[in-house]
Parts: sequence; C-alpha cells; structure tokens
Amino acid sequence: MTKDINILGIETSCDETAVAVVRNGTEIVSNVVASQIDSHKRFGGVVPEIASRHHVEQITMVLEEAVRDSQLSWDEIDAIAVTEGPGLVGALLIGVNAAKALAFAKQKPLVGVHHIAGHIYANRLEEDFQFPLLALIVSGGHTELVLMKDHGNYEVIGETRDDAAGEAYDKVARMLNLPYPGGPHIDRLAAVGEANIAFPRAWLEEGSYDFSFSGLKSAVINKIHNAKQRGEVLKDEDVAASFQESVVEVLTSKTLRAAKQYQVKQVIVAGGVAANKGLRASLETAFKQVDIPLLIPPLHLCTDNAAMIAAAGTIAYEQGRRSSLDLNANASLLLK
Ligand code: KG4
Ligand code: ZN
Repeated sequence: MTKDINILGIETSCDETAVAVVRNGTEIVSNVVASQIDSHKRFGGVVPEIASRHHVEQITMVLEEAVRDSQLSWDEIDAIAVTEGPGLVGALLIGVNAAKALAFAKQKPLVGVHHIAGHIYANRLEEDFQFPLLALIVSGGHTELVLMKDHGNYEVIGETRDDAAGEAYDKVARMLNLPYPGGPHIDRLAAVGEANIAFPRAWLEEGSYDFSFSGLKSAVINKIHNAKQRGEVLKDEDVAASFQESVVEVLTSKTLRAAKQYQVKQVIVAGGVAANKGLRASLETAFKQVDIPLLIPPLHLCTDNAAMIAAAGTIAYEQGRRSSLDLNANASLLLK
C-alpha cells in the first residue's frame, strides 16, 4: 500500500477565506470557506481593502477549523499549497504569508498554486482526469479554454480579450438593479424569461478560440437605456434570457469546436459561472451528441474554495514542484 498524501490548501485571492485538506488529490478531508459576500454587497462588487482586512481577521480561525475538522496531526500533513495568483494582491498576500509562516513553523514543503489550476482540479475531487482534456474556465475574472495533455500541463488556446463571462453577468445584473454577485440572479430570471431580444455574438476571426463579452454587455446596456427613453417596457426576465443565450451559445460552440479539433477524451468546466444552469444544460446537450464525457463540478466546488487549491497542489507536489520561503503574491500570474 502506498502512503497517503495529505495536502493543506489555502485560498485568499478574492473574497473567500478558505482552507482545506485533501487526500491524494481526490478526496476532501476538510473544507472550510468563510465568504465575505455580505460585506461587499452594498458596494456592488469586491472592495480590495475590505477583502484584505477580512482575510486577516478570518485566516487563523479558518485554518484552525480546517485542521481540526481533518482530524489529522501535523505529522500526517505533507505540504502546504497556497494560491499565489492571479487575484487581488492584498488579498493574495494574506494567504501567501499564512502559508509561509506555517511551512516554516511546521517544517513543511510549500507549493504555490495558480488559481485557475485550482478551479480545473476541483473536478478531480469528483472524477479522475482523462488526457488530453479540454477545460473551459468561466469565472468573475477569467474566460479561458485550456488544453491539458497531462497533469500540471496547461496550454491556453483561447481567452477573453476584454470582460470575463462572470464580469459581464455582474455588470448586466447591476443594470437590472440586481444584488452582487449578479450571475445567479440573471440565471434565475433567464429561466423564466424569453430570449426574444437579438443581442450580438462575438465569434471573432475564423478559427479563433478567444472570447469577447464587452460588446454584448454594451449592447444590453444600450437596449435598456433606449427602451427607457422611449418609454418601452422591457421585461427583466427577457433581457436576462436573451443575454444568457448569447453568452451560452458562444461558450458552448467554441468549446465544442475545440474539443473536436484536439480530439479530447474529456471536457471539464470550472469557475463560478460553471454554476449557471443555462450553460450546464447547453453543454450537456452538445457533448452528449458527440459522445465526449463532460464533467462539471457540483455547485460548492464551482466557486472559490481551498479544496481545489489543495487538489492542484497535490499534483504539483507529486511532480516535485516547490516554492521557497520568499514566495510572493503575483496578481497577474500566468497559467503554465
Ligand atoms: O470563480 P468565482 O467564484 O470567483 C472568481 O474567481 O472570479 O466566480 C464568481 C463569478 C461571479 O461573476 C458570479 O456572478 C458568477 O461567478 N456566477 C454565476 C453564477 N453563479 C456565480 N454566473 C452565472 N450564473 C450563475 N449561476
Ligand atoms: Zn475563482
């Protein structure tokens, strides 16, 4: 029998203070997430200074709880994995410093993890990977198509040129006076609305796997303004359904085309927008037709958490990747 590998993961890149312990990269032993959403809601978005302050206040408690819940002793924990970027630099620094302090105090190896690698590896807590695989990452800060030929090997084949998908959701939601974060609210309205407004789809140049959502966002904002000026009544549900249809159609179509071109064995979805019911349904239909296995994490693993960081950190640890105690937060870290 081979020895278990237990990795403690720390995530503080945005507005969730999270610590988790994962066994062998596939099994959640403990998973604690303290969300700050309520503190940011009244500002309509994440306020970096407030985020940092909350992380400082929460990190020790969250850490202690995750270790206690794991029922493991420090001897049984093999390494500390932490999100080193991308994200809000002041927020990242809290996690990075906590991880460095722990690694030093407990004499454990330190492993820096890319936040998006974490989102991808959230799926491995559900099912093992089959390579080559294609990952669609859709979150508040990212929209990317990543080809993976092996563990820890990431090739970005497409990315957003402007707004991320989640960002577009949040901005449109704001126009409709919906609370932050707006994605789930638009999703809920879209389910009962009719997609009867023709919004644009940004396909970009022939063959491109890049995305662009700022034109769509502007088209929605203009439509709402013009309707208001003319005294026309637009149903919020229909605006939501039409906007969502445009986003979902582009995401599904480009993911499907890339999956076929690269002949992948599996497609996985990651990031907060992976919680979107319209996107889930559309991807499920598309990939069932071509018989390519599709993996979408359960809702609690779609949004930011530390189990995903520990899962991605396990692979990095197994591959011998180590960070030194001068590890720094990197707000614009590239995935490679
Ligand atoms: O991955 P995540 O928790 O944080 C980032 O790393 O960005 O993603 C948050 C984003 C927000 O923009 C939020 O509005 C969006 O995910 N989101 C959704 C849904 N649930 C969360 N967007 C569309 N539909 C949803 N059901
Ligand atoms: Zn995220």
